[in-house]
Amino acid sequence: MSCCNHTHGVAVGCCGTAETASEITPDQWAEVHAVIARHKDTPGALITVLREAQDVVGYFPPELLDCIAEGMNIPASDVFGVVSFYSLFSLSPKGRHTIKVCTGTACYVKGIREVINRIASEYGIREGETTEDRRFDLEGVRCLGACGLAPVMVVGDDTHGAVSADKVLELLKKYT
Ligand code: FES
Repeated sequence: MSCCNHTHGVAVGCCGTAETASEITPDQWAEVHAVIARHKDTPGALITVLREAQDVVGYFPPELLDCIAEGMNIPASDVFGVVSFYSLFSLSPKGRHTIKVCTGTACYVKGIREVINRIASEYGIREGETTEDRRFDLEGVRCLGACGLAPVMVVGDDTHGAVSADKVLELLKKYT
């Protein structure tokens, strides 16, 4: 029987051994197993499975990679290779709030760099990183299509226009 037929939380198996240290909940494991079951017989479905599994768990801890590899009958090294190749996949936990700072031309001209620098020095992260407490991810993105509001920053689902280095930390306080 494949490891991915186990019910995580009670089973011990390939995916169960690291389970107690895992941040993956039993509900998440159940969803991951459903994802694998849906796609495991479809050739070339690995990327789809990875995308859906990341939607469930948020990133790929090692036990999740192992489980997907076994469930899809693909060598773990291949699965790891795919996850590390594509930037849309993450091997480390993401923050609760993603800060997307627009680095397009209009925002650049209006001072987004100072905004980014202020966030970076306050929270000790650079673009592409997550704060240690997992409160924020900081991502630089291309033009968000709201140049009239430049400089623009999106936090979670909230768009903030005309942000300034002086105001940005106050604005971020409400995201806990
Ligand atoms: S350049 Fe930032 S929204 Fe267009």
